[in-house]
Amino acid sequence: MGKKVLLTVLTIIMTLSFVSVNLAAPEGNKRKGKYLFRKSCRSCHQEGSTAVELSPISKTQADWDKVFSNESYKNLPCKAEWEKQSDKDLLDIYTYMYKHAFDSPSPLKCK
Ligand code: HEC
Repeated sequence: MGKKVLLTVLTIIMTLSFVSVNLAAPEGNKRKGKYLFRKSCRSCHQEGSTAVELSPISKTQADWDKVFSNESYKNLPCKAEWEKQSDKDLLDIYTYMYKHAFDSPSPLKCK
C-alpha cells in the first residue's frame, strides 16, 4: 500500500514538472523557424559575411529569451529585417533558436 501511494505521488510530480517545462518553452514551429532564419537572417549572419555568425548554439536559452523579448531587436542595426517578419514568423525563428540553444538538450549549428 505504502509503495503504491509513493508511486502515485511520484507520477503526479513528474507529470506536473513535465507540463511546466513545456509551458515555459516557446510554441512556434521550429522547422519553419529554421527555414525563415536561413532565408531572412543567415545571409548576413554567417562566417565571412557582414555580421557576426549566428546559430542557435551561439547563445543560451536565457540569452535568446532576452534577444526576442520586449522588442529588444529595435536596438539592433538589423531592426528593418526583423520588422519584415510577422509576429508568427518571429515566434517560429525564436522557437528554432531556443530549442537548439547552447544549453538546450539538442544544441545545433545552423548549416
Ligand atoms: C542586412 C544584414 C542583416 C540581416 C539580413 C540580419 N541581420 Fe542581424 N545583425 C546585422 C548586423 C550588422 C548586426 C550588428 C552586430 C554585428 O556586426 O554582427 C546584427 C546583429 C544581430 C543580433 C545581435 C548579435 C549578438 O551577438 O547578439 C542578433 C541577435 C541578430 N542580428 C539577429 C538577426 C535575425 C533574427 C535576423 C533575421 C530576422 C537578422 N539578424 C537579419 C545584420 C543583419
